Amino acid sequence: MKKTIVIGVTGGIAAFKVAQLVSNLKKKGYEIHVIMTESATKFVHPITFETLSNNRVSIDTFDRNFQYDVEHISLAKKADLFVVAPATANVIGKIANGIADDMLTTTIMACTCPKIICPAMNTNMLNNPITQDNINKLKGYGYHFVDSGDGFLACGDVGSGRLANLDIIEDEIEIVLSKKPLLNKKILISAGPTIEAIDPVRYITNHSSGKMGYSLAIAARNLGADVTLVSGKTSLKKPHKVNVIDIVSADDMFKEITSISEKFDVIIMSAAVADYRPKNVSDSKIKKSLDMSIELERTKDILEHIGKNKKENQVLIGFAMETEDLIENAKVKLEKKNADYIIANNLNEKGAGFKVDTNKVTIISKNENKEIDLMDKSDLAYLILDYCLKEE
Ligand code: CTP
Repeated sequence: MKKTIVIGVTGGIAAFKVAQLVSNLKKKGYEIHVIMTESATKFVHPITFETLSNNRVSIDTFDRNFQYDVEHISLAKKADLFVVAPATANVIGKIANGIADDMLTTTIMACTCPKIICPAMNTNMLNNPITQDNINKLKGYGYHFVDSGDGFLACGDVGSGRLANLDIIEDEIEIVLSKKPLLNKKILISAGPTIEAIDPVRYITNHSSGKMGYSLAIAARNLGADVTLVSGKTSLKKPHKVNVIDIVSADDMFKEITSISEKFDVIIMSAAVADYRPKNVSDSKIKKSLDMSIELERTKDILEHIGKNKKENQVLIGFAMETEDLIENAKVKLEKKNADYIIANNLNEKGAGFKVDTNKVTIISKNENKEIDLMDKSDLAYLILDYCLKEE
């Protein structure tokens, strides 16, 4: 069923950015109701939010032109989540002190659902101990906050107080609305390609985009896990509330992962780790001559190393990328690397593997080969976590 989000917009210049937020959330399939304060309507016309949300915007508690139910109570009952963005110092102060004198503050007061506050204001107003006390008081009552970012403010100052980026607000919404079956689980995920230097200019790498590993990290975070992502170089943005450790080479990844792997309940190796690296890395650029060859040596197999040293109750999930004999090869990897699951994908299958947003996999375990239909990597991430960690 569609979840309902009530968005409270207050009177700050960042109100215009919230129009985009409403549009993004609507596209994700949420039912959106917007409540504006009188001062918010001085920055953005309610018609903007009405058009984007397909719902009437509420402003006035005593508006007589509405269907007969007590509007702030009916909205409060409908809401799965209440987001205040931008939240001025004024509205934070009112909510923290139980003042309900307009549609927004009366509705939030009547809401029992989770609430997210996204402050946006002048730096000095934000740093004012009164505002900070109010924020801390609301945090104590269980309100979630998306901290404002640093930058150029409309008042001409430079500092903290800018409304957080919309993608961070959207991430926080996903986190707050998700069920938390993985709460208290520590999950380590590797993602992306590794890079093996030949000389200061050239290197050997592969086509991994990191999308599968990042999707797993985001899904695990939303489901309540404490997630560490060891990532090779990708163009993806660092996920909010995930501890990201950047690495370059297979050896860097080996060192980072093996130094912390003991602390994790679940380890997922979705990185495309190089199997070979140049035996000698030249300090200076290799000048061209006739034919040349590069001598390669094996890198360490991280999954195999962790498999050999696996802690009791630790769940180890690897990937297998194959172009032939998918199941047979993946089964050999399951055994050899002492993994609990191997997520096998065939590079020759349409929509599977590197760079694309979808994947088609078979989840291999000792007792079962579970074929999964082609699907978006972000949906597949939830399915993998659910399937592999269901008895956890
Ligand atoms: N892997 C690893 N360390 C390596 C190579 C691979 O931890 N040096 C992990 C991958 O992250 C993946 C699994 O091992 O989870 C299988 O990787 P894959 O490249 O499919 O297989 P390889 O073990 O490298 O074997 P082959 O290249 O012969 O298929």
